[in-house]
Order: sequence, then structure tokens, then C-alpha cells
Amino acid sequence: MNARTKRMKIAILTGAGLLLGGFGWITTPLSVSATAVDAAGDYKAKCAICHGMDGSGNTTNGKKLNTKDLRRDEAQKMTDAQLLQIILKGKNKMPAYEALLGKDKCAALVPYVRTLKK
Ligand code: HEC
Repeated sequence: MNARTKRMKIAILTGAGLLLGGFGWITTPLSVSATAVDAAGDYKAKCAICHGMDGSGNTTNGKKLNTKDLRRDEAQKMTDAQLLQIILKGKNKMPAYEALLGKDKCAALVPYVRTLKK
């Protein structure tokens, strides 16, 4: 192997490594789900109590905790990674769901939240 092909090989390997390192934690839980994930059912059971079935936050709990409207631009403009992070780890009065639902179910709630967009 000459120096040039060696350099290229290293560059390709580094690129693949960065991709896997960066996106692995998001793509892995989506691809390894063994059990069926029911995002609509999970949303109804866990999230609607504050956010409302329509995502408006127009519920008794929602108003008390200053739950923001999931349908608004500010929420919908967040990246999938940002939305997932809030669902996994919580934010202010938003509870964390990683331990309760697991990563797969949390990840499935991201596209569900997108369906609420006005
Ligand atoms: C106990 C009430 C409560 C429950 C239950 C709840 N949330 Fe939240 N959620 C909040 C509050 C309050 C915020 C606003 C956090 C902030 O920015 O201060 C929030 C923010 C969010 C955001 C960030 C977007 C935004 O509008 O700022 C997402 C996404 C979200 N919640 C999704 C969910 C999902 C999915 C579930 C169910 C797994 C859920 N929430 C359950 C209270 C709740």
C-alpha cells in the first residue's frame, strides 16, 4: 500500500467513525426495536395529561405547569435530536421519560409530536 492510499483509507475510516459516533445513539434505538411501539398509545397514556391530545397544552395540568403548545413553530422547528433529548431527559417541569419508557418508545414519540403540527 502506498502512502496515498493509506491516507485515503484513514480518512474514510475516520469519516465512518464520526458518523457512527454522532448518529449511532439516535439510529440504534429506532432500528433494534423488537416489540411493537405504539407512539399514539404512549402519547395518550403519558403525555396527553399535560400536553392534551391535540398538543395544545390546554389542560388543567398543562396550564398549571406552563406546558407550551407542541404545535407551535418554535417546537416544530427543533431538530429530532433536540425533541428526543427533551423527552429522554426532561426540561424544567417536563418530566424525563428515558427510564420510564426506554429509548425506543421515546424516539417513536418524536415523529408523533411532528404529526401534531397545525
Ligand atoms: C407533567 C406534565 C408533562 C407531561 C406528562 C409531559 N410533558 Fe412535555 N412538557 C411539559 C412542560 C411543562 C414543557 C415545557 C418545558 C419548558 O421548556 O419549560 C414540556 C415540553 C415538551 C417538549 C419540548 C417542546 C416545547 O414545546 O417546548 C416536548 C417535545 C415534550 N414536552 C414532549 C412530551 C412527551 C412526548 C411526553 C410524553 C412522553 C410529555 N412531553 C409529557 C410538561 C409535560
